[in-house]
Amino acid sequence: MSDLLGQAAATRKAAEVARAASAGPAMTDGFGRRIEYLRISVTDKCNLRCVYCMPVEGLPWLRRDEILTYEEIAEIVRVLARMGLRRVRLTGGEPLVRRDLPALVELLAATPGIEDIALSTNAVLLADLAEPLRAAGVRRVNISLDSLRPERIDAIARRPGSHGRIMRGIEAAERAGFAPIKVNCVVMRGRNDDELADFARMTLTRPWHVRFIEVMPLAENLDVSAREFVSAFEVLERLRAIGELEPVAGPEGNGPATYFQFPGAAGTVGVITPMSHNYCERCNRMRLTANGQLRPCLFGDLQFDLRGPLRRGEPLEPVVRAALHVKPERHHLVQGSAAGSGGLLALSQIGG
Ligand code: 5AD
Ligand code: SF4
Repeated sequence: MSDLLGQAAATRKAAEVARAASAGPAMTDGFGRRIEYLRISVTDKCNLRCVYCMPVEGLPWLRRDEILTYEEIAEIVRVLARMGLRRVRLTGGEPLVRRDLPALVELLAATPGIEDIALSTNAVLLADLAEPLRAAGVRRVNISLDSLRPERIDAIARRPGSHGRIMRGIEAAERAGFAPIKVNCVVMRGRNDDELADFARMTLTRPWHVRFIEVMPLAENLDVSAREFVSAFEVLERLRAIGELEPVAGPEGNGPATYFQFPGAAGTVGVITPMSHNYCERCNRMRLTANGQLRPCLFGDLQFDLRGPLRRGEPLEPVVRAALHVKPERHHLVQGSAAGSGGLLALSQIGG
């Protein structure tokens, strides 16, 4: 099985070499990795309560004055873009619960150096927002969809009635012309792992990139992440029983996923392997939390306050350089334990 992941790595490498020809200022970290991508959490709140993420009663939310304004986010992006940032993604929590998100997109789209704006969403509010977001400059969306069955979505997302809104949101995204559409599915044993074939079959006819994600352990999900973990190796094994899997470079984005295609399929299937296989060596990103902390790594407790200096009118570049300098080589998640997550309760706190 690891030979499949190995072949995929070679395919990806070739695509990267072709891409690396692009010039311009570059931000590199202490391991020589080029950092050109920022994930921006615009809110820690969410309108769903996914079992692998947050408890039904929610989390202790940030206060409004703690959260960066759109103008503050845009200023941080302007500084980073001068240093070499090229692409941003808006996340949450659920980014669409923040009011007037297209206004932020317009600010970011007007920032010199920013070539690509993407969005990660649960699609519940996307039906009405797809068009305005596309018009403002979002090019691509990632949609979280953990099941194709209405009653299962209710059981996983724990906000009954979301299925219809999610489906209308996805249709609106397709109509609005977002491309490619990536679908994120967190695989959980006994909850949705019997739907792998259904998801895979959808890629035969739809140009979707379905990515199966290994659930990551954080303080609020230890029961699910320990008991229901399904490795990407197992996912690939089970997909291979459906049809021949050819490693492919996958859609643009250069993220952590490893992609495969069934013969003649319109889309691809991929795995994201935070637990079973390390993708940190090709990490290209940092994160900005809703309260203005720059996080060089998804996990661990390193974060650098940008909000304080920004509100005091101090330069941000030295803080960014410090974060780049100490960006860790890899994360240290351990299955069944929250030890490697750096005290986070849920991914929604930093923008998954
Ligand atoms: N493990 C794996 N994936 C997670 N996501 C949120 N929390 C976790 C977790 N603990 C996923 C969401 C979304 C993406 C941004 O992160 O489902 O698709
Ligand atoms: Fe909301 Fe995403 Fe967390 Fe689900 S995983 S509760 S959609 S932030």
